[in-house]
Amino acid sequence: MGSHTCVALIEAGFTPIILDNFSNSHPAVLQRLAQITGRAVVCEQGDVLDTPWVEAVLRRHQVAGVMHFAGDKAVGESVAQPLKYYRNNISGAVSLLEAMQAANCQTLVFSSSATVYGDPASVPITEDFPRQHTNPYGHTKLVIEDMLAAMQVADPAWQLGVLRYFNPVGAHPSGLIGEDPSGIPNNLMPFVAQVAIGKRPFLNVYGNDYATPDGTGVRDYIHVQDLAQGHVAALQRLLQSGESFTVNLGTGSGNSVLEVVKAFELASGRPVPCQMAARRPGDVAQCYAYPALAQRLLGWRAERTLADMCTDVWRWQSGNPNGYQ
Ligand code: WQD
Repeated sequence: MGSHTCVALIEAGFTPIILDNFSNSHPAVLQRLAQITGRAVVCEQGDVLDTPWVEAVLRRHQVAGVMHFAGDKAVGESVAQPLKYYRNNISGAVSLLEAMQAANCQTLVFSSSATVYGDPASVPITEDFPRQHTNPYGHTKLVIEDMLAAMQVADPAWQLGVLRYFNPVGAHPSGLIGEDPSGIPNNLMPFVAQVAIGKRPFLNVYGNDYATPDGTGVRDYIHVQDLAQGHVAALQRLLQSGESFTVNLGTGSGNSVLEVVKAFELASGRPVPCQMAARRPGDVAQCYAYPALAQRLLGWRAERTLADMCTDVWRWQSGNPNGYQ
């Protein structure tokens, strides 16, 4: 997400500075970004938990605004290792906010998630739906949103853009950057891509008895390029208006697991064998956005289709079978 947003920021005339500890990313992405954008992207290696270091970087580069992507995001892992998530995600956000305050930088775009809605009573989902968490990962996003709200009350000078992503998938059309999960992918799209390329024998479809058109889970898959452009629009809105906001970043439509499989087979020309399996604990039947508020406030809407997402993922996966290694 961060690397794709860097490209979009440069294309919009911004100069991004990357802060990364490379715990869930690879330094090779920097060379890929230079290939795509034609310029070197400044990267400072360190940990968001190191508050003095973050403050020093913000001062050194006279940063006008911050986008906070640094956090762990695997739902299943968060259930198995809750303290890792509370430390990295919540303590990391506290550290970043303290560093921003000390460096007099109070413009922040925060990467939140549709997971804060838990199991929605209905779909599509609007921003005023009740928030509930069903796992520690979603809990950390919910707590950080509340922290930001408290910061806003304490000091109205904070300019805060909270973006609730739905299901980010896809890759930059160059095929040079994309999702590179370590180990067995938790999420659907990277797993499907690894089946298509022959790295995995089949896809386990977690449940086909949901109250959905074909019985499999329905999600709002949104292209990472659309998401990246949504981040740029959010930063521009904050810098121009100074008004904080919370918006859903989704397409407004849902696709089932089997529809994603079929779309990927069409895009790749490869079979994706499936096996029906038991439901995955914590999964919900349907989750997709009502994206009108982001369209109204940011002048942004998702434009890429599921076919675009699958085509771009296939170009990345087939060109980089072992990711950035
Ligand atoms: C999608 C659908 C599964 C894998 C999570 C986080 C969310 C965001 C995206 C960070 C579901 C089914 C999956 C597989 C399957 N993360 N599936 N076989 O769970 O909707 O959302 O990741 O921002 O916050 O909650 O995404 O891709 O894991 O699952 O059948 O091997 O695919 O049951 O219906 P999810 P997912």
